[in-house]
Amino acid sequence: MLYQGVLFLHSWLRWGVVILGLITFARAVRGWAGGLEWTRTDQRVRLLFITLLDSQVLLGLSLYFVLSPLTPRSLEGLRSVMSISVLRFFGLEHATTMLMALVIAHVASVASRKARDSTAKHRRWVVGLLIALLCIVAGIPWPGLPYGRPLLRTFG
Ligand code: HEM
Repeated sequence: MLYQGVLFLHSWLRWGVVILGLITFARAVRGWAGGLEWTRTDQRVRLLFITLLDSQVLLGLSLYFVLSPLTPRSLEGLRSVMSISVLRFFGLEHATTMLMALVIAHVASVASRKARDSTAKHRRWVVGLLIALLCIVAGIPWPGLPYGRPLLRTFG
C-alpha cells in the first residue's frame, strides 16, 4: 500500500518537475535574450522548481532503498542485475541520471543567485537548467522503452 502510494506520487510529480522545469527555462531564456530584469517571480519559480525536484528525489530514494522490489540491496546484487535491462535501468541508470540532474540544478541555482547582474542570473540558470532537464528527460522510463512505464499512472 505504502509502496503503491509512493510510486503513484513519484509518477505524477514527474509531470510537476518537467512542466515547471520548462516554464522556468522559458522565462530564463526570455529574460536572458531580452535583457530583462531578474524579478521576484523568477526567484520564486526557480525555488519552486528546486523544491519539487528535491521532493521527487526524496521519493525516489525511498523507493530505491526501502520500498521497491526492483532495486538491488547490495553491491553484489547490483553486479548480478547488470545484464537485465529493467533491473539495470532502475538499479543504476535512472538513479544516477536523476542524481546528476539534482546536483547540476542546485549548482546552477547557487551560481545564478550569486551572479551580480540580471543577465548573468538568467544565463547561468538557463545553462544549468538545460543540462539538468536533458538528464531528467533522458532518465524517465517513457512508454515504448524496454523498461517503459505509463504516462499517467492509476493508483494500485
Ligand atoms: C527528477 C527526478 C526523477 C524523476 C522525474 C523520476 C521519474 C520516475 C518515473 C516516471 C518512474 C516510473 C513511475 C511509474 O511506474 O509510474 C520512476 C520510477 C522509479 N524511480 Fe524515479 N525519478 C526521479 C528520481 C529518482 C531517484 C533520484 C531515484 C533513486 C535514487 C529514483 C528511483 C526510482 C525507482 C526505484 C523507480 C521504480 C520503482 C518501482 O517500480 O518499484 N527516481 N521514476
